Amino acid sequence: MLKRDGYTHSLWQDNHEPYLPVNKPDPKTIFDVIIVGGGITGVSTAYQLQKAGKKCLIIEAYNLCFGTTGGTTAHLNTLLDTPYSTIEKKFNEEKARLVADSVQDALKLIKANIRDLDIRCEYEDADAYLFATDDKQVKDLEKIVEATVEAGLHMEFIDQIPISQEFLKAAYITGQGKFNPIPYVMSLAAEFEKLGGRMLTQSRVMEVKEEGDKLNVNTETDTWIADQLIYATHIPPGVNLLHLRCVPWRSYALAATLADDNYPDDLIYDMEDPYHYYRTQTINGEKFLIAGGKDHKTGHEENTERPFQLLEAHVRKYFDIKHMVNEWSSQYYESADGLPYIGHLPGTPERIFVATGFGGNGMIYSSVAAIVLRDMLTGLDSPYENLYDPNRLKPVAGFSSFVQHNTGVIKEYFKKLIPFEKISTLSELAAGEGRLVRFGDHSIALSKDAWNRFHAVSPKCTHLGCEVQWNIAEQSWDCPCHGARYNTDGKVLNGPAHEGLDKIAVDGQREIQANHKGLKKDF
Ligand code: FES
Repeated sequence: MLKRDGYTHSLWQDNHEPYLPVNKPDPKTIFDVIIVGGGITGVSTAYQLQKAGKKCLIIEAYNLCFGTTGGTTAHLNTLLDTPYSTIEKKFNEEKARLVADSVQDALKLIKANIRDLDIRCEYEDADAYLFATDDKQVKDLEKIVEATVEAGLHMEFIDQIPISQEFLKAAYITGQGKFNPIPYVMSLAAEFEKLGGRMLTQSRVMEVKEEGDKLNVNTETDTWIADQLIYATHIPPGVNLLHLRCVPWRSYALAATLADDNYPDDLIYDMEDPYHYYRTQTINGEKFLIAGGKDHKTGHEENTERPFQLLEAHVRKYFDIKHMVNEWSSQYYESADGLPYIGHLPGTPERIFVATGFGGNGMIYSSVAAIVLRDMLTGLDSPYENLYDPNRLKPVAGFSSFVQHNTGVIKEYFKKLIPFEKISTLSELAAGEGRLVRFGDHSIALSKDAWNRFHAVSPKCTHLGCEVQWNIAEQSWDCPCHGARYNTDGKVLNGPAHEGLDKIAVDGQREIQANHKGLKKDF
């Protein structure tokens, strides 16, 4: 089974095995480009660059598709989460058209890859339906349709939608798609290797240093050298302006079989905030309804099992569910102005690039990133380079003091051995629960796993020192500031942190299990 950055299982994970790289890199090689991150963005970009004649190395901290690619719901949209009406307002009509062109180019590229490489990823063309259920939504829908048409896409109003939900007004747009992202990424990875690309999995990049006209890229065990580097890690590591301009969100999804076979052929979206969506995916000849919604900012929901319950209850109103097959959550980053940041990473040497801030449209923007970065790194003019330039941001007042403040927090943080006798008085937890507990001046992120074993780590995120929050559904510690996530032993699941939470040894593990009835709450 494919591993992912959470405790829940996505529909994709259960149906695929991990990709095993065949081309190990030689440390003596000087690469043209190192791509950090083996999700759809990293692999799509690496494939494009290798095909264009670059000598590339992909370095992935876990396995391919470990991050959000393994937890996506895999919509291939040119109808974007940031509507063209909003893009027009924040930028202008010309830029809205350019965005529409870029996502259409991306979909063409995905379809060309599927066709040329004969990728069996159950791709299907689809229309998308968007419907309004109150007067405000009707007004918004009218603006969206107008701006979408102005941007050059085909969208029009329609009287019926493929779901038994009442609505006031609806529209549909042609030219969307859906697929299974895992065979798509793995086929691109195989082709990348056939073209001579090199790949390292289970290797975390810890540091990147510019030395003369090269970059030294340090993993936990080796140093790799390259002319250029791309962070395709969802959010770049380190401390960067983009961390202040990207907000991490958790999104919830389910996959179910239906009793009445009434699977929708197309993509359906309501206009609630956050919105719900529905589509069908066939895997190995079996159909699944995929539904999603109930998004919230990372670390801002006290009980992360609740969004699953609400989502399931909502979906059951409109579909005759036979079996709930999977429920899973994943993370995405919303940019400050609604468009991704693709290009040179602000505040770093010119040879370091990034692709982030895709919002809920990661599948399509991953290929926009592949196109833009391929063109930039091979010296071609890209019509989209300025549009997505991460340096379009103006420096934020107070940014440097924000960094200093947070760095200070990290330095002052303490980590100590907490003996069993002391920790046993701190908190009473059920299996699967986690809690921040205080012990004197100390603060501890304490959790208990399904086998009743305690895990204790420092709650101070190693990125900039915010306090992590327990995510019961994914059994992880999530940072509400910039979205770093850690497992119960403090190991990094998602950046921007690249160092784990300090582990606090818990003495007398067995005794804790035996005596936990005597624990009492300390806060
Ligand atoms: Fe930035 Fe935690 S992710 S402080």
